[in-house]
Amino acid sequence: MAEPITLALSKGRIFEETVPLLRHAGIEPAEDPESSRRLILETNRPGVRIVIVRASDVPTYVQYGAADIGVAGKDVLMEHGGDGLYEPVDLGIAACRLMVAGRAGEAEPPRGRRRIATKYVHTTRRYYAEKGEQVEIIKLYGSMELAPLVGLADAIVDVVDTGNTLRANGLEPQEHIADISSRLVVNRAAMKVKHDALGGIISAFREAVGGE
Ligand code: ATP
Ligand code: PRP
Ligand code: MG
Repeated sequence: MAEPITLALSKGRIFEETVPLLRHAGIEPAEDPESSRRLILETNRPGVRIVIVRASDVPTYVQYGAADIGVAGKDVLMEHGGDGLYEPVDLGIAACRLMVAGRAGEAEPPRGRRRIATKYVHTTRRYYAEKGEQVEIIKLYGSMELAPLVGLADAIVDVVDTGNTLRANGLEPQEHIADISSRLVVNRAAMKVKHDALGGIISAFREAVGGE
């Protein structure tokens, strides 16, 4: 009997973009998380199951070994930190940029300590510390684009893809922090104990995205 493997994925774009890569590894989820309320999905491969978690919780499940392997955005990994995690493959999916954005046409940033609203508190703190700029960071859990419109913040740090959300809210990108894509993350201890099963899955993913 092969070693059982638990894979952590989030619903939405990561699940949808990971399914074709899983297929390449010969793994088909038995259910669609958009229509099922179940959080543990069996697959066609006995011993391989998928757990559905929030995007920002994927590194936590993998770090503690509750999942052996997972798919997480680099934004989430930068914010979480890499403790206990091995990051073997850039899958190139869910690509976007982490950016500072503010009100369009605002020539000069406000003087003094700027207020930055974001869910990426650690990443934002690190970014401004490296620039030597003192800012006040306001933690939000979503809809960051609203904050500058109602005077909660001078700017936001969030992911941008098409820029449609910024434009729709009268904001514009101001500074580029990092290019983002989703990564395969693996529990370091599981990598040793379940080397054969995980190695096979990692190679199949790598092949599916055109790596060696
Ligand atoms: P939750 O909905 O649970 O609060 P979330 O909004 O971060 O979490 P998703 O929207 O599924 O969850 O995003 C998952 C990952 O996809 C992000 O961590 C980021 O790397 C990437 N991503 C987010 N928004 C976009 C986008 N508009 N285009 C491309 N990739 C994106
Ligand atoms: C994400 C992100 C931005 C938007 C950027 O939201 O939080 O708001 O995409 O993409 P764009 O530049 O193409 O407009 P998402 O679609 O994940 O919705 P959410 O608020 O539910 O996270
Ligand atoms: Mg989102």
